[in-house]
Amino acid sequence: MTDSQKVANSTRVVVITGAAQGLGRAYALRFATLGYRLLLLDLNGDALAKVAEEVGKADRECRAIVADISDVHSVQGAAQQIDAAFGRVDILINNAAIFSQLKMRPFEEIPLDEWTRVLHVNITGTFLMARAMVPLMRRNGWGRLINVSSAAVLMGRPHYLHYTTSKAAVIGMTRSLARELGPAGITVNAVLPGATDTEVARETVTPAQKAALIAMRSIPREENVDDVTGVVLFLASEESRFVTGQSLSVDGGTTFL
Ligand SMILES: NC(=O)c1ccc[n+]([C@@H]2O[C@H](COP(=O)([O-])OP(=O)(O)OC[C@H]3O[C@@H](n4cnc5c(N)ncnc54)[C@H](O)[C@@H]3O)[C@@H](O)[C@H]2O)c1
Repeated sequence: MTDSQKVANSTRVVVITGAAQGLGRAYALRFATLGYRLLLLDLNGDALAKVAEEVGKADRECRAIVADISDVHSVQGAAQQIDAAFGRVDILINNAAIFSQLKMRPFEEIPLDEWTRVLHVNITGTFLMARAMVPLMRRNGWGRLINVSSAAVLMGRPHYLHYTTSKAAVIGMTRSLARELGPAGITVNAVLPGATDTEVARETVTPAQKAALIAMRSIPREENVDDVTGVVLFLASEESRFVTGQSLSVDGGTTFL
């Protein structure tokens, strides 16, 4: 990265949802090293504060907001705080989702309230954040909306039907939003990570399933957060200016679109 690129980044504000842990935290740390100004948002205030402190060590301007992406009032309040703090949003990484705490089970055993909650957070939350942030992007006639889907959709991965259904919806949302926002200078793309190791333990990939997933990859190794962050950086940058409505699979060549 050249100094002039860093200077360009230093005016840009990136909003990262679900930044308290896992991939969201990794995006925060990576964007911080490249000079962006950061707004981190999550439900989990304690963990979020720790990530903001880590980012602060990189000497970057960073604010943290505790908010629920699935609650319209919470999102509106966050948007007002972001507007007051920065007066602009350039990049939204719509990353927060109900994911690592999910239990795998046959679809007939998914309780209706869990189904409803997963769809509400993962779909409606993604919509609410886009709806709240896009007006701030429109001001500068430039924006990058990056929605996090999952390669599990392309694989038809079983046993968390609410999750794969929600992440399929994110792809549809991405395509239609790309059409609506292209004329405003805003690109909208989806990133589809494969099963990625983070610092968070989870039950959605058992050790046996993990070995099977690795065996399915064209590049047969574990997927790490750094494998995903670079792709998100590209979609956030000027270099991706003519790319919109796309679903970029980052799964070591397990699935091909
Ligand atoms: N890690 C993977 O293997 C993988 C693979 C494909 C896709 N993804 C997607 O990447 C994203 C991040 O994955 P991860 O592994 O870091 O997940 P994670 O479960 O570890 O972290 C999700 C974060 O979102 C926050 N969150 C959940 N609901 C929220 C709400 N209503 N409002 C605000 N914050 C909320 C949580 O507090 C948490 O900090 C998710 O969208 C996930 O579906 C992950």
